[in-house]
Amino acid sequence: MKKLKVNTGRKYEIIIDRGIIDHCGEYIKKISSPTRVAVITDSNVHNFYTPRVMASLKQAGFIATEFVFKAGETSKNSKTIEAIYSHLADNNITRSDMIVALGGGVTGDMAGFAAATFMRGIEFVQIPTSLLAQVDSSVGGKTGYDIKQGKNLIGAFWQPSLVLIDPDTLDTLPEKYFYDGMAEVIKYGCIKSLGLFRQLKKGVDELDIESTIYKCVSIKRDIVQRDEKESGERKLLNFGHTIGHALEKIYEYKKLSHGEAVAIGMVMMTKASEAEGTSPKGSAEKIAELCRMYNLPICDESSKRDIAFAAHSDKKASGSKIDIVVINAIGKACVKTMGQKDFQAYIEAVEG
Ligand SMILES: NC(=O)c1ccc[n+]([C@@H]2O[C@H](COP(=O)([O-])OP(=O)(O)OC[C@H]3O[C@@H](n4cnc5c(N)ncnc54)[C@H](O)[C@@H]3O)[C@@H](O)[C@H]2O)c1
Ligand SMILES: [Zn+2]
Repeated sequence: MKKLKVNTGRKYEIIIDRGIIDHCGEYIKKISSPTRVAVITDSNVHNFYTPRVMASLKQAGFIATEFVFKAGETSKNSKTIEAIYSHLADNNITRSDMIVALGGGVTGDMAGFAAATFMRGIEFVQIPTSLLAQVDSSVGGKTGYDIKQGKNLIGAFWQPSLVLIDPDTLDTLPEKYFYDGMAEVIKYGCIKSLGLFRQLKKGVDELDIESTIYKCVSIKRDIVQRDEKESGERKLLNFGHTIGHALEKIYEYKKLSHGEAVAIGMVMMTKASEAEGTSPKGSAEKIAELCRMYNLPICDESSKRDIAFAAHSDKKASGSKIDIVVINAIGKACVKTMGQKDFQAYIEAVEG
């Protein structure tokens, strides 16, 4: 078992342990005393884990209800949020009750947003089951959903009260999504840890997943503690995401998954920053090599003009400016702010 304390506006613990899902009720009881717990999950995760979570919650004495939505990013919208609100109201969830987000990043983001807004805010616990959610989205309190104009455009900062990570749940995660989460793992190596980056080069068979999760979560914890509301350092976590989100948007969240889009974004951005002189020559190829090892794409045929246009309407654009994250070396990153035209020119330098 590994534990981390997060010292943000709301203080909470992240506990990483194999099989912890069967003990979630006991852990929740230690930190809070709700009467009712609403478990929000998606149609895939539901089949594998809801019965175990419900059993543990009931054993701990909670009245537990479940709400299941159709799995996938296309469900991350206001309609599902509305349905969650109705479920909470229909089941008499009050401000002293709690939500449990059981699933990947889509579930965590939406259940977290519902928790942030239902009755002006109720507590919630994250039980992330995808690698992406375990290393990234379950920690830090960003919640929200997509609208057709862009991804995560509606959202709130709302910290969970507890994060329970069970690495064993990755056994049922389809391989495609495992690799998808590896894009965020590679991202942590790029922006903060040469050691992690080197570790990843050993390949998936040599990967100790529990300590990899711990390493990523501790990097994220440290950043979030210093900059909870993303006014500075937290922006570094968006490495690969300006282009990544633009690509997801161009393909209407269908052709590329989040991690795939981020992988392309990291490589493309680093090629551009190499051309401009911020990143040492060869950095993009090192990142591309890791992405290939973990079955992630490294390029896309969308025009630079379309990417720059889509990036401009992303929420990382403020006014006419866009914040981009570039690496000065593997393990060290910085933020640059530029206008849309300059950004387009910046990425035009990338061949292909
Ligand atoms: N809040 C944040 O800080 C933050 C950070 C990064 C990404 N995100 C968001 O996270 C989302 C992507 O997360 P994701 O990749 O986890 O997507 P997801 O929640 O859609 O999960 C991916 C797929 O894996 C399935 N799945 C999850 N766990 C499983 C398990 N243990 N066994 C079997 N199937 C399982 C899901 O049903 C889904 O089909 C995006 O919407 C992105 O915007 C948020
Ligand atoms: Zn991401």
